[in-house]
Amino acid sequence: MTALSDSFQRPINYLRISVTDRCNLRCIYCMPEEGLPLASHQEILSFEEIRAVVRAAAPLGINRLRLTGGEPLVRAGFLDLVRMLAEVKGVEDLSLTTNGILLLQYAARLKAAGLHRVNVSLDSLRSDRFHRMTRLGELENVLAGIEEAKRVGLNPVKINNVVVRGVNDDELLDFARKTIEDGWHVRFIELMPFGEGLEGACEHGEGEEKFISVREIVQRLAMLGDLEATRTSNGSGPAKYFRYPGAVGTVGFISPVSEHFCFGCNRLRLTADGRLRPCLLDDREIDLREALRRGASAGELRRLIEQAVAAKPKRHRLSEGARSRRHMAQIGG
Ligand code: 5AD
Ligand code: SF4
Repeated sequence: MTALSDSFQRPINYLRISVTDRCNLRCIYCMPEEGLPLASHQEILSFEEIRAVVRAAAPLGINRLRLTGGEPLVRAGFLDLVRMLAEVKGVEDLSLTTNGILLLQYAARLKAAGLHRVNVSLDSLRSDRFHRMTRLGELENVLAGIEEAKRVGLNPVKINNVVVRGVNDDELLDFARKTIEDGWHVRFIELMPFGEGLEGACEHGEGEEKFISVREIVQRLAMLGDLEATRTSNGSGPAKYFRYPGAVGTVGFISPVSEHFCFGCNRLRLTADGRLRPCLLDDREIDLREALRRGASAGELRRLIEQAVAAKPKRHRLSEGARSRRHMAQIGG
């Protein structure tokens, strides 16, 4: 198997695939209340087209896949896609990022279809606040979905928590306690000023004061005990993991803003409308849809994937004010 690496010797083995730009929630930092202009069915890749990309990528050593959105579980027939991708030779890790609303309903069938594990986005443990932050969601559905995912063995279930100052940062310790009391794996994520992102989060306040750094989060978590570094990093993602003494669960930190982790970046992204994106925060994209629809061979797809890898920038320019024109739900977080 050929191992891919980019111009900066970073091994690339991970592809995030946005399967839809639609979502059943409207999280304040992600989407405006009325939603976003959506791609039409013809604009987004079919399951067969997604599989063709994965079949071309796997022999290049891209053996880890994450399905994201929007909300993947709202795409009709999603279980079929999971089944199709789980069967591709060379795919070793197949995971899903979901808001958890439909997880109770789908977890067992996802597992049966060949999904390995899930990450669930959850920003509040208080139902009234959860409803306000997502504008549409019921917390109880997500909590039941998390339990069901664990029960059917979609492990480890990781919880993603985007920390927004003045909105949910008073729940840091509640989430941290879940790692001790319920064995949860919780990852705290810095708010990125992305697409609608900051404007949305800032509806109730001004500009960057909604941002809270991992450094500050760590300081605040020390109230509960000393966090010890663990090696449960699950390979190559950007999170750093810690554990309270005696806890089963872990606390992870993802700091895209304060401490760019680009030096360890191992990934490409496929947008819902079929663009291969070398970097989340860089608008350069390679049009795979056009290639797929004119009947490109697997060899040609492979060359385009290699081109995208070669085009990966050394690092993003978020701290210098660089912004993406595309929206998180289109790119797949
Ligand atoms: N900053 C940080 N994380 C974000 N997500 C969506 N928008 C933002 C943002 N502006 C997260 C979601 C989900 C993951 C896919 O990306 O909460 O956990
Ligand atoms: Fe939907 Fe995820 Fe955006 Fe929330 S953050 S609106 S769950 S895509």
